[in-house]
Amino acid sequence: MIITSCGNSIDIAKEIAKKLKKKFSPLTISSFPDGDIYLRFNTDVKNKKVVIVQSFQPNSDMSLFDIIFAAETAKDLGAKKVVLVAPYLAYMRQDKRFNSGEAISSRIMAKLLNNSIDKIITIDPHIHRYKSLKDIFTISAVKLTANPVIAEFIKKKMKDVVIMGPDWESYQWAEVIAKQIGAEATVLKKTRFSSRHVTEKMIKPVSIEGKNVVIVDDIISTGHTIAEAAKKAKKMKAKSVTAIGVHGLFVENAIDKLKKAGVDRIFTTNCIEHPTNKIDITPILLKELKKNQ
Ligand code: R5P
Repeated sequence: MIITSCGNSIDIAKEIAKKLKKKFSPLTISSFPDGDIYLRFNTDVKNKKVVIVQSFQPNSDMSLFDIIFAAETAKDLGAKKVVLVAPYLAYMRQDKRFNSGEAISSRIMAKLLNNSIDKIITIDPHIHRYKSLKDIFTISAVKLTANPVIAEFIKKKMKDVVIMGPDWESYQWAEVIAKQIGAEATVLKKTRFSSRHVTEKMIKPVSIEGKNVVIVDDIISTGHTIAEAAKKAKKMKAKSVTAIGVHGLFVENAIDKLKKAGVDRIFTTNCIEHPTNKIDITPILLKELKKNQ
Protein backbone atom coordinates (compact mmCIF):
# COMPACT_ATOMS: atom_id res chain seq x y z
CA MET A 1 0.00 0.00 0.00
CA ILE A 2 1.20 3.50 -0.87
CA ILE A 3 -0.25 6.59 0.81
CA THR A 4 -0.19 9.80 -1.18
CA SER A 5 -1.88 13.20 -1.39
CA CYS A 6 -2.42 15.93 -3.98
CA GLY A 7 -1.43 18.65 -1.49
CA ASN A 8 -4.33 18.97 0.98
CA SER A 9 -4.48 16.79 4.14
CA ILE A 10 -0.73 16.07 4.11
CA ASP A 11 -0.53 15.81 7.91
CA ILE A 12 -3.37 13.28 8.03
CA ALA A 13 -1.82 11.31 5.15
CA LYS A 14 1.56 11.18 6.94
CA GLU A 15 -0.05 10.09 10.21
CA ILE A 16 -2.03 7.36 8.46
CA ALA A 17 1.13 6.10 6.75
CA LYS A 18 3.04 6.13 10.05
CA LYS A 19 0.35 4.28 11.97
CA LEU A 20 -0.19 1.71 9.21
CA LYS A 21 3.60 1.39 8.73
CA LYS A 22 3.23 2.15 5.01
CA LYS A 23 5.15 4.46 2.71
CA PHE A 24 3.99 8.07 2.32
CA SER A 25 5.00 9.37 -1.08
CA PRO A 26 3.69 12.82 -2.04
CA LEU A 27 2.88 13.55 -5.68
CA THR A 28 4.66 16.21 -7.65
CA ILE A 29 1.95 18.47 -9.05
CA SER A 30 2.77 21.66 -10.93
CA SER A 31 1.92 23.38 -14.19
CA PHE A 32 3.53 23.51 -17.59
CA PRO A 33 4.29 27.08 -18.76
CA ASP A 34 0.93 27.21 -20.57
CA GLY A 35 -0.96 26.23 -17.40
CA ASP A 36 -1.58 22.55 -18.23
CA ILE A 37 -1.30 20.25 -15.22
CA TYR A 38 1.94 18.29 -14.62
CA LEU A 39 1.60 15.32 -12.27
CA ARG A 40 4.11 12.67 -11.29
CA PHE A 41 4.22 9.69 -8.91
CA ASN A 42 7.57 9.54 -7.14
CA THR A 43 7.38 5.87 -6.22
CA ASP A 44 6.55 2.59 -7.94
CA VAL A 45 2.83 1.85 -7.62
CA LYS A 46 2.69 -1.27 -9.83
CA ASN A 47 0.46 -3.95 -8.24
CA LYS A 48 0.03 -1.77 -5.14
CA LYS A 49 -3.05 -0.31 -3.51
CA VAL A 50 -2.82 3.49 -3.78
CA VAL A 51 -4.58 5.55 -1.10
CA ILE A 52 -5.00 9.22 -2.04
CA VAL A 53 -5.70 11.31 1.06
CA GLN A 54 -7.07 14.62 -0.14
CA SER A 55 -9.66 16.95 1.33
CA PHE A 56 -11.59 18.94 -1.30
CA GLN A 57 -10.75 22.23 0.43
CA PRO A 58 -8.98 24.48 -0.21
CA ASN A 59 -9.59 24.64 -3.99
CA SER A 60 -12.39 22.14 -4.58
CA ASP A 61 -12.27 22.36 -8.39
CA MET A 62 -8.51 21.87 -8.50
CA SER A 63 -8.73 19.03 -5.97
CA LEU A 64 -11.26 17.14 -8.08
CA PHE A 65 -9.10 17.59 -11.16
CA ASP A 66 -5.89 16.55 -9.34
CA ILE A 67 -7.58 13.45 -7.86
CA ILE A 68 -8.77 12.31 -11.28
CA PHE A 69 -5.33 12.83 -12.81
CA ALA A 70 -3.67 11.04 -9.89
CA ALA A 71 -6.09 8.09 -9.98
CA GLU A 72 -5.87 7.67 -13.75
CA THR A 73 -2.06 7.86 -13.62
CA ALA A 74 -1.90 5.31 -10.79
CA LYS A 75 -3.99 2.86 -12.82
CA ASP A 76 -1.96 3.54 -15.94
CA LEU A 77 1.18 2.69 -13.90
CA GLY A 78 -0.37 -0.63 -12.88
CA ALA A 79 -1.84 0.13 -9.43
CA LYS A 80 -4.07 -2.68 -8.15
CA LYS A 81 -6.66 -0.42 -6.56
CA VAL A 82 -7.16 3.32 -5.99
CA VAL A 83 -8.87 4.44 -2.78
CA LEU A 84 -9.73 8.08 -2.15
CA VAL A 85 -9.84 9.25 1.46
CA ALA A 86 -11.57 12.63 1.26
CA PRO A 87 -12.09 13.98 4.81
CA TYR A 88 -14.19 16.75 3.21
CA LEU A 89 -16.17 15.97 0.07
CA ALA A 90 -17.21 19.11 -1.80
CA TYR A 91 -20.14 19.76 -4.19
CA MET A 92 -22.62 17.82 -2.04
CA ARG A 93 -24.85 20.82 -1.27
CA GLN A 94 -25.84 21.25 -4.92
CA ASP A 95 -27.96 18.08 -4.88
CA LYS A 96 -30.80 19.30 -7.09
CA ARG A 97 -31.50 21.87 -9.75
CA PHE A 98 -32.69 24.75 -7.58
CA ASN A 99 -33.05 27.04 -10.61
CA SER A 100 -33.56 26.03 -14.23
CA GLY A 101 -30.41 25.30 -16.18
CA GLU A 102 -28.20 24.68 -13.12
CA ALA A 103 -25.61 21.90 -12.93
CA ILE A 104 -26.31 19.24 -10.26
CA SER A 105 -22.68 19.39 -9.14
CA SER A 106 -22.79 16.46 -6.70
CA ARG A 107 -23.89 14.05 -9.46
CA ILE A 108 -21.22 15.27 -11.87
CA MET A 109 -18.49 15.03 -9.20
CA ALA A 110 -19.61 11.47 -8.32
CA LYS A 111 -19.77 10.43 -11.98
CA LEU A 112 -16.20 11.59 -12.53
CA LEU A 113 -14.96 9.77 -9.42
CA ASN A 114 -16.93 6.60 -10.24
CA ASN A 115 -14.97 6.48 -13.44
CA SER A 116 -11.51 6.94 -11.97
CA ILE A 117 -11.35 5.48 -8.44
CA ASP A 118 -12.38 2.16 -6.86
CA LYS A 119 -13.49 3.33 -3.42
CA ILE A 120 -14.18 6.53 -1.52
CA ILE A 121 -14.04 7.06 2.26
CA THR A 122 -15.34 10.38 3.56
CA ILE A 123 -16.43 12.06 6.80
CA ASP A 124 -19.89 13.52 7.37
CA PRO A 125 -20.69 14.31 3.74
CA HIS A 126 -23.58 16.75 3.33
CA ILE A 127 -26.41 14.33 2.58
CA HIS A 128 -29.70 16.16 2.46
CA ARG A 129 -31.92 15.19 -0.44
CA TYR A 130 -30.01 11.94 -1.13
CA LYS A 131 -30.68 8.94 1.11
CA SER A 132 -27.08 7.77 1.08
CA LEU A 133 -23.87 8.04 -0.93
CA LYS A 134 -25.18 5.08 -2.97
CA ASP A 135 -27.59 7.48 -4.68
CA ILE A 136 -24.67 8.99 -6.57
CA PHE A 137 -21.73 6.58 -6.22
CA THR A 138 -21.58 3.23 -8.03
CA ILE A 139 -18.19 2.42 -6.45
CA SER A 140 -17.81 1.40 -2.80
CA ALA A 141 -18.56 4.54 -0.75
CA VAL A 142 -18.00 4.69 3.02
CA LYS A 143 -19.51 7.49 5.10
CA LEU A 144 -17.85 7.98 8.49
CA THR A 145 -18.78 10.47 11.19
CA ALA A 146 -16.75 12.77 13.41
CA ASN A 147 -19.41 12.55 16.16
CA PRO A 148 -17.37 10.39 18.60
CA VAL A 149 -14.30 12.68 18.52
CA ILE A 150 -16.45 15.82 18.79
CA ALA A 151 -18.33 14.34 21.77
CA GLU A 152 -15.06 13.37 23.45
CA PHE A 153 -13.68 16.90 22.89
CA ILE A 154 -16.74 18.61 24.40
CA LYS A 155 -16.76 16.21 27.36
CA LYS A 156 -13.11 16.95 28.11
CA LYS A 157 -13.25 20.73 27.66
CA MET A 158 -16.72 21.91 28.75
CA LYS A 159 -19.23 21.68 31.55
CA ASP A 160 -22.93 22.51 31.87
CA VAL A 161 -23.51 22.25 28.15
CA VAL A 162 -26.55 22.38 25.83
CA ILE A 163 -25.94 21.19 22.27
CA MET A 164 -27.70 23.22 19.59
CA GLY A 165 -28.30 22.19 15.98
CA PRO A 166 -28.86 25.31 13.84
CA ASP A 167 -31.21 23.40 11.47
CA TRP A 168 -32.94 20.02 11.11
CA GLU A 169 -30.08 18.56 9.09
CA SER A 170 -27.60 19.35 11.85
CA TYR A 171 -29.84 17.76 14.49
CA GLN A 172 -28.37 14.37 13.50
CA TRP A 173 -25.04 15.57 14.97
CA ALA A 174 -26.49 17.59 17.85
CA GLU A 175 -28.72 14.79 19.14
CA VAL A 176 -26.09 12.03 18.92
CA ILE A 177 -23.37 14.17 20.49
CA ALA A 178 -25.71 15.31 23.30
CA LYS A 179 -26.58 11.67 24.06
CA GLN A 180 -22.92 10.67 24.10
CA ILE A 181 -22.05 13.33 26.68
CA GLY A 182 -25.31 13.18 28.64
CA ALA A 183 -26.45 16.72 27.77
CA GLU A 184 -29.67 18.20 26.37
CA ALA A 185 -30.03 19.03 22.68
CA THR A 186 -32.14 21.62 20.94
CA VAL A 187 -32.74 22.43 17.30
CA LEU A 188 -33.58 25.59 15.39
CA LYS A 189 -35.60 25.92 12.19
CA LYS A 190 -33.59 27.67 9.54
CA THR A 191 -35.20 29.64 6.75
CA ARG A 192 -32.72 30.35 3.99
CA PHE A 193 -33.57 33.31 1.78
CA SER A 194 -30.27 33.24 -0.15
CA SER A 195 -26.76 31.84 0.31
CA ARG A 196 -26.00 34.82 2.57
CA HIS A 197 -29.33 35.40 4.35
CA VAL A 198 -30.85 32.97 6.88
CA THR A 199 -33.15 33.28 9.91
CA GLU A 200 -33.51 30.89 12.87
CA LYS A 201 -36.43 29.93 15.16
CA MET A 202 -36.19 27.48 18.12
CA ILE A 203 -38.50 24.50 17.55
CA LYS A 204 -37.34 22.17 20.32
CA PRO A 205 -37.49 24.41 23.38
CA VAL A 206 -35.00 23.80 26.18
CA SER A 207 -33.79 26.25 28.77
CA ILE A 208 -30.39 27.62 27.86
CA GLU A 209 -30.21 30.47 30.37
CA GLY A 210 -26.82 30.34 32.13
CA LYS A 211 -25.71 27.33 30.05
CA ASN A 212 -22.70 26.88 27.81
CA VAL A 213 -24.29 26.48 24.38
CA VAL A 214 -22.37 24.46 21.81
CA ILE A 215 -23.67 24.92 18.25
CA VAL A 216 -22.70 21.96 16.07
CA ASP A 217 -22.98 21.88 12.28
CA ASP A 218 -21.42 19.87 9.47
CA ILE A 219 -20.25 22.86 7.44
CA ILE A 220 -19.33 26.41 8.44
CA SER A 221 -19.08 28.26 5.14
CA THR A 222 -20.07 31.96 5.19
CA GLY A 223 -20.94 31.58 8.89
CA HIS A 224 -24.48 32.95 8.47
CA THR A 225 -26.20 29.82 9.82
CA ILE A 226 -24.17 29.66 13.03
CA ALA A 227 -24.19 33.45 13.46
CA GLU A 228 -28.00 33.50 13.50
CA ALA A 229 -28.10 30.55 15.93
CA ALA A 230 -25.57 32.31 18.19
CA LYS A 231 -27.66 35.49 18.26
CA LYS A 232 -30.65 33.38 19.32
CA ALA A 233 -28.61 31.69 22.08
CA LYS A 234 -27.30 35.04 23.37
CA LYS A 235 -30.82 36.49 23.38
CA MET A 236 -31.93 33.51 25.49
CA LYS A 237 -29.17 34.39 28.01
CA ALA A 238 -26.66 31.61 27.27
CA LYS A 239 -23.56 31.92 29.48
CA SER A 240 -21.25 31.26 26.52
CA VAL A 241 -21.56 30.22 22.88
CA THR A 242 -19.13 27.82 21.22
CA ALA A 243 -19.31 26.88 17.53
CA ILE A 244 -18.08 23.49 16.37
CA GLY A 245 -17.93 22.60 12.67
CA VAL A 246 -16.91 19.29 11.15
CA HIS A 247 -15.82 21.13 8.00
CA GLY A 248 -14.60 24.69 8.53
CA LEU A 249 -14.55 26.41 5.14
CA PHE A 250 -14.73 29.95 6.58
CA VAL A 251 -15.33 31.79 3.32
CA GLU A 252 -15.62 35.56 3.05
CA ASN A 253 -15.42 37.10 6.56
CA ALA A 254 -17.01 34.15 8.38
CA ILE A 255 -14.86 34.36 11.52
CA ASP A 256 -15.59 38.08 12.05
CA LYS A 257 -19.27 37.45 11.46
CA LEU A 258 -19.32 34.68 14.07
CA LYS A 259 -17.49 36.80 16.64
CA LYS A 260 -19.81 39.77 16.02
CA ALA A 261 -22.81 37.47 16.53
CA GLY A 262 -21.52 36.55 20.00
CA VAL A 263 -19.63 33.30 19.35
CA ASP A 264 -16.97 33.07 22.06
CA ARG A 265 -14.98 30.12 20.69
CA ILE A 266 -14.76 28.33 17.33
CA PHE A 267 -13.43 24.78 16.96
CA THR A 268 -13.26 22.51 13.93
CA THR A 269 -12.01 19.06 13.01
CA ASN A 270 -8.98 18.77 10.75
CA CYS A 271 -11.14 17.52 7.82
CA ILE A 272 -10.12 20.89 6.32
CA GLU A 273 -6.88 22.43 7.55
CA HIS A 274 -7.52 25.66 9.47
CA PRO A 275 -6.14 27.43 12.59
CA THR A 276 -9.39 26.48 14.41
CA ASN A 277 -8.59 22.73 14.07
CA LYS A 278 -8.66 21.21 17.53
CA ILE A 279 -10.40 17.89 16.88
CA ASP A 280 -8.43 15.15 15.12
CA ILE A 281 -10.37 12.78 12.82
CA THR A 282 -7.34 10.61 11.92
CA PRO A 283 -8.28 7.84 14.43
CA ILE A 284 -11.66 7.47 12.70
CA LEU A 285 -10.03 7.11 9.27
CA LEU A 286 -7.40 4.72 10.63
CA LYS A 287 -10.03 2.43 12.11
CA GLU A 288 -11.69 2.13 8.69
CA LEU A 289 -8.43 1.70 6.75
CA LYS A 290 -7.21 -1.01 9.14
CA LYS A 291 -10.28 -3.10 8.28
CA ASN A 292 -9.27 -3.52 4.65
CA GLN A 293 -5.48 -3.34 4.59
C1 R5P B 1 -26.46 23.42 5.21
O1 R5P B 1 -27.53 22.84 5.18
C2 R5P B 1 -25.31 23.04 6.06
O2 R5P B 1 -25.62 22.04 6.97
C3 R5P B 1 -24.74 24.25 6.77
O3 R5P B 1 -25.67 24.71 7.73
C4 R5P B 1 -24.45 25.35 5.79
O4 R5P B 1 -23.73 24.86 4.71
C5 R5P B 1 -23.67 26.45 6.46
O5 R5P B 1 -23.44 27.46 5.53
P1 R5P B 1 -23.19 28.95 5.99
O6 R5P B 1 -22.05 28.92 6.96
O7 R5P B 1 -22.81 29.65 4.70
O8 R5P B 1 -24.44 29.49 6.57
